[in-house]
Amino acid sequence: MTVPEQPMKPILMLGGTGKTGRRIASQLAARAIPVRIGSRGNTPSFDWNDRATWASALAGVSAAYISYNPDLAAPGASEAVGAFADLAVAMGVKRLILLSGRGEPEAQRAEDMLKRSGADWTILRCSWFMQNFSESFMLDAVLSGQVALPVGAVGEPFVDADDIADVAVAAFIDDRHIGQLYELTGPRLLTFAEAIKEIAEASGRDIRFVRLTPEEFSASLAEQQLPEDLIALLKMLFTEVLDGRNEHLSDGVSDALHRPARDFTDYARAVATSGVWGGAQ
Ligand SMILES: NC(=O)c1ccc[n+]([C@@H]2O[C@H](COP(=O)([O-])OP(=O)(O)OC[C@H]3O[C@@H](n4cnc5c(N)ncnc54)[C@H](OP(=O)(O)O)[C@@H]3O)[C@@H](O)[C@H]2O)c1
Repeated sequence: MTVPEQPMKPILMLGGTGKTGRRIASQLAARAIPVRIGSRGNTPSFDWNDRATWASALAGVSAAYISYNPDLAAPGASEAVGAFADLAVAMGVKRLILLSGRGEPEAQRAEDMLKRSGADWTILRCSWFMQNFSESFMLDAVLSGQVALPVGAVGEPFVDADDIADVAVAAFIDDRHIGQLYELTGPRLLTFAEAIKEIAEASGRDIRFVRLTPEEFSASLAEQQLPEDLIALLKMLFTEVLDGRNEHLSDGVSDALHRPARDFTDYARAVATSGVWGGAQ
């Protein structure tokens, strides 16, 4: 008598429709590894703000990708991630991969909580994503032709979300990544003004970068009627995290994947070709 094969348990992908989760989910699906998307718009629904939703998202999964929303630097993030990791481990889901941020005390506290949970952890500590300019809050400004931010000549090693996804997938399929903290950056430091110049050149559009004071930035967000806590978070991300503390490259992509990280110019060319930024292609 042949024993029927057990179906493979899915991997829970928190933020599975977002910038990194969506890419990881599609790569895993291409390898016939089942995925359960964890987000408010999915069934069962997962909401960071409603702990009653967490257990049903975790039931019957083999592993989880933890992408916290709105941001791991936000107050309360580490406590939520720690509580989620504790619940996962208690439910037998030990393999956990955390998407983290660089130079953010609250993100580093979340990393510590994950490590303390008893999980088989991997941490992806990432610089700013290139895709913030094409899939996120800076896209509208790019399309308007003016990107106005409270950031000066500080260099940021923008990382490609495709590289983050490649590392996460490698970590899910190979246990040698357990217990590793990868600091993932792109291969080059760029100021925001330089990044916008590259986007303007690639898309053939006239796009200006304007430096604002933190107060001007907050006032412009308030005019757009953003909630106060989101304004405070964005102001903190642009002023504290971009104060020079992260102005260095790291080898996380090549350590994990044995190939170089993708460059901003290649990202800008690919997005321009896709037509997302409009303009001449
Ligand atoms: N962006 C960067 O440059 C950057 C750099 C370093 C680290 N990080 C970290 O990466 C994480 C994700 O940031 P991101 O910018 O890449 O966002 P993102 O993943 O693009 O965010 C969107 C995703 O989050 C889900 N989501 C939104 N609110 C949620 C909630 N209350 N509960 C559950 N899911 C929710 C959305 O689905 P639904 O709307 O269906 O819920 C969607 O799947 C953050 O923790 C951030 O600190 C970001």
